[in-house]
Amino acid sequence: MLRPMLVHLNGRILPADEARVSVFDRGFIFGDGIYEGLRAFGGWVRNVEDHAARMRQGLDEAGIDWEPDALGPLSEQLLEANGLSDAFLYWQITRGTPAPGDPVRARIPPRSMRPTVFAYCLPAPGVEALDEPMASTGATVPDERWQKGHVKAISLIANVMAAMVADRAGGEEAVMVRDGRVSESCATNVFAVLPGADGQSEIVTPPVGEVSILSGVTRKILLELAPEVRVRSISVNELDHADEIFLTGTLTTVKSVIRLDGRTIGTGTPGPVARRLLGRYADYVRAHVAEACGR
Ligand SMILES: Cc1ncc(COP(=O)(O)O)c(C=O)c1O
Repeated sequence: MLRPMLVHLNGRILPADEARVSVFDRGFIFGDGIYEGLRAFGGWVRNVEDHAARMRQGLDEAGIDWEPDALGPLSEQLLEANGLSDAFLYWQITRGTPAPGDPVRARIPPRSMRPTVFAYCLPAPGVEALDEPMASTGATVPDERWQKGHVKAISLIANVMAAMVADRAGGEEAVMVRDGRVSESCATNVFAVLPGADGQSEIVTPPVGEVSILSGVTRKILLELAPEVRVRSISVNELDHADEIFLTGTLTTVKSVIRLDGRTIGTGTPGPVARRLLGRYADYVRAHVAEACGR
């Protein structure tokens, strides 16, 4: 029999079909909230401190009063309740629901709102699945989102619309471009392998801040594992000569774009750099899982 999914809602663990949120919640009405997508391997919640730090920054900027310090233990509790050790976890903190009598659509939120805290988790492949980069097609699309790409806001309609534009152009992934520079994809950061000035190829990824993008936790891990990666702006024209393009994200891990705008990239298969970085990432995950098991 299918096990009922248990979710976290405001400090309680309960079956998903019993979890209730008001239709006046500002997350529903305004997309007024912050989220995080996390990954657990063998019960180890990957780099949860990085996710908590990013969430804290977003909540602070948005003025939502919730402390993500407990993200680790709360995630472990949810995994355990669902009997999962290899999983994807989604945490969403909205500004909350106005009290009865308070205005529902006030742009300036009523004072003393209590945030709504919600999470679910789903099974995901274990570390053994990290043996081969995924592959997909892509299309370049204009990045028409807001300028606060570093804030992981739940209002994702612009990302959805960009993905739909890419889909109509025949690309499974959108490679977004702002002012002629590559920014990111809809739920991933972008890396490219480009011919360097000295005849050597260079691995590059755009800087957070110069272009409005999310500081991906997977990107951060890969930058630590591969100091040869250069953080610099990528002009969209440079992608014409790319040997490899790949996308990185918590659930995606490493996904090679093997065709972009109908043009084959490199050999049309995941390239050696994507494989090498994925290999290092898999070793990193294995080492942390082993350490967590030994504790
Ligand atoms: C727009 C965007 N960029 C990049 C990422 C990758 O970030 P991370 O590696 O932390 O999952 C995400 C993840 O959801 C995202 O939504």
